[in-house]
Amino acid sequence: MLRRLHPVQPESFAFTPANLEWAKGQISKYPEGRQASAIIPLLWRAQEQEGWLTRPAIEHVADMLGMAYIRALEVATFYFMFQLQPVGSVAHVQICGTTSCMICGAEELIAVCKELIAPAPHVVSKDGKFSWEEVECMGACANAPMAQIGKDYYEDLTADKLRELIARFSKGEVPVPGPQNGRYAAEPLSGLTSLKEFESGKKQYNASAQLAVDIGDTVKRIDGTEVPILTPWLGKPAKSAAKTAVKVAAGAAVAAVAVAATEAVAKTVKKAAAKKAEEAPAAEKKPRAPRAKKTDKE
Ligand code: FES
Repeated sequence: MLRRLHPVQPESFAFTPANLEWAKGQISKYPEGRQASAIIPLLWRAQEQEGWLTRPAIEHVADMLGMAYIRALEVATFYFMFQLQPVGSVAHVQICGTTSCMICGAEELIAVCKELIAPAPHVVSKDGKFSWEEVECMGACANAPMAQIGKDYYEDLTADKLRELIARFSKGEVPVPGPQNGRYAAEPLSGLTSLKEFESGKKQYNASAQLAVDIGDTVKRIDGTEVPILTPWLGKPAKSAAKTAVKVAAGAAVAAVAVAATEAVAKTVKKAAAKKAEEAPAAEKKPRAPRAKKTDKE
């Protein structure tokens, strides 16, 4: 599939202040001269903010990382996770069409998308709220068929269930993600057959569904205010500078002591040399023992 920039582009792009701070934190993870390594997280953040990846966003990120535009475009057009065209304002629905999901009814889900959203993938619905596409295996094969809607997985779907989900999203609701047939996670539909001792004490939903409910950002655009910036080392330069200053001061003190010691030794040596020099002439004045005269016989 050809992946090209959309013909209609916005004038400009800028990260929200919180997302900009987050982006700078990501860049700081890499050593000097290797800032380009932050390109994927930054492009992803730009997409999360806008819904899709625009040309101004790609160029903005390239400028931030000191990269040629073509290098950033290469990354953006290579990875399918980057949406290069507008998506629905509420959600972009990704239907898995790979083996398990296909066998379990993915084609019926795609038919629902064609009917309720748009006849072709990557086309925004008439009300502007949704778009869809078929994707490859999303790694939830035990809960096939499934769809990723926004940031979460909706699993164990049927055509009717997907219709219901789209209707609820359209009304502004955020249905709980995870299995949609009553399963907790990926256990047998009839319940656990082993490891039953782990069933008690669990939360209402499985870990990923619970997290989605707790954070509440299933289809929300990320503006940077909802997740903490995990870059604790950013506070360290001042501390490490202080540490370095202490080390330098300690080093200087040691060096000063060493110099003083060297000077003291040099003085002592000098004194000793001077004393020796004073004593030397006296020693020279000592009368030498007269040499025995050579006789003619020798
Ligand atoms: S085949 Fe659909 S999630 Fe793996």
